[in-house]
Amino acid sequence: MEIEKIKKEIVLEMDNAADSAAVEKLRIKYLGRNGEINSLFKKLKDLPVAERRKIGPKLQSLKSELGALFSNRLEVSKKTSVAASVDLTAPAKKVSKGHLHPLTLVDAEIRRIFLGLNFSVVEGPEVESEYYNFDALNVPANHPAREMWDTFWLKQEARDKRPETKLLLRTHTSPVQIRYMEKNNPPFQIIVPGKVFRYEATDASHEVNFYQLEGLMVGKNVSLANFKFVVEEFFKKFFRGQKIEFRYRPGYFPFTEPSVEVIIKLPAHGGALPDGGRGASGGENRWLEVMGAGMVHPKVFEYAGYNPRDWQGFAFGVGIDRLAMIKYKIPDIRMFYSGDLRFIKQF
Ligand code: DAH
Repeated sequence: MEIEKIKKEIVLEMDNAADSAAVEKLRIKYLGRNGEINSLFKKLKDLPVAERRKIGPKLQSLKSELGALFSNRLEVSKKTSVAASVDLTAPAKKVSKGHLHPLTLVDAEIRRIFLGLNFSVVEGPEVESEYYNFDALNVPANHPAREMWDTFWLKQEARDKRPETKLLLRTHTSPVQIRYMEKNNPPFQIIVPGKVFRYEATDASHEVNFYQLEGLMVGKNVSLANFKFVVEEFFKKFFRGQKIEFRYRPGYFPFTEPSVEVIIKLPAHGGALPDGGRGASGGENRWLEVMGAGMVHPKVFEYAGYNPRDWQGFAFGVGIDRLAMIKYKIPDIRMFYSGDLRFIKQF
């Protein structure tokens, strides 16, 4: 038996195999259970013992050598056949990436602007007590002003039914004013972005939950003039490049005196934008209320433990969703919460 010759022939055949299927076929032909190498082993027993001793080990090493050659060769031909089936000139598939929600973008932008004005960002709880959401903001029980905020009251365990622990979903971010002042001394300036909840029917400009940004600046001589500067600086940066017409008008909030509202004229081509709920009418020249503000009421300072003769300050609360609606000309607040990717993907 000429082992070397057999090996050369097999290697030649292997080199000529067109693809991995052909290589595999060859492997079975030679190394399979009924393959040619095994039948050579069977023939060994017909040889004289001396021959058998000589050829046996050679055949054995041929078998293992071929095993290695075949598996190498199989790997190579698999790789080359994948490469051959890939069209390297074809345009790449677009990867569909996730991205930020418009309200997240606006929230980040607002924080950035106020940080630039030396405000700090503070947060507070969404489940709030009646005390912080109303009483300490000078809205006692039975005060008609409570009707300004349709409230989700939370069911409570019997043992919690003490009036001072009545719980609700905060209807505005204003309770964080009290929480912050209880623990910090003036002067300071903070903003409080956060989610708020109202037990209301939804429409194009009202949602059951939405976002507000509270602002509070307290010091020895803080005045409405400072408020005006901060708000106008904020609008200038937030509506960069967009022409925005806005106005102050007198308002009423139990926690500020005097109180003002800031209204923004809707962009002319934003015809489908919601009216502000109060005072706005259809068509052009509609104004949307985006912010309530004023000088902090002395009672609020007293609740927070400050002497109102020592300190004064302004506070404001702005609807983040409404600002986003104006900035991006979005006609319906409910779109933000629809989870509709066709809407979300535009940002
Ligand atoms: N909390 C008010 C609301 O949700 C908005 C507001 C008005 C906040 C005047 C203030 C403020 O801080 O001074 O309707």
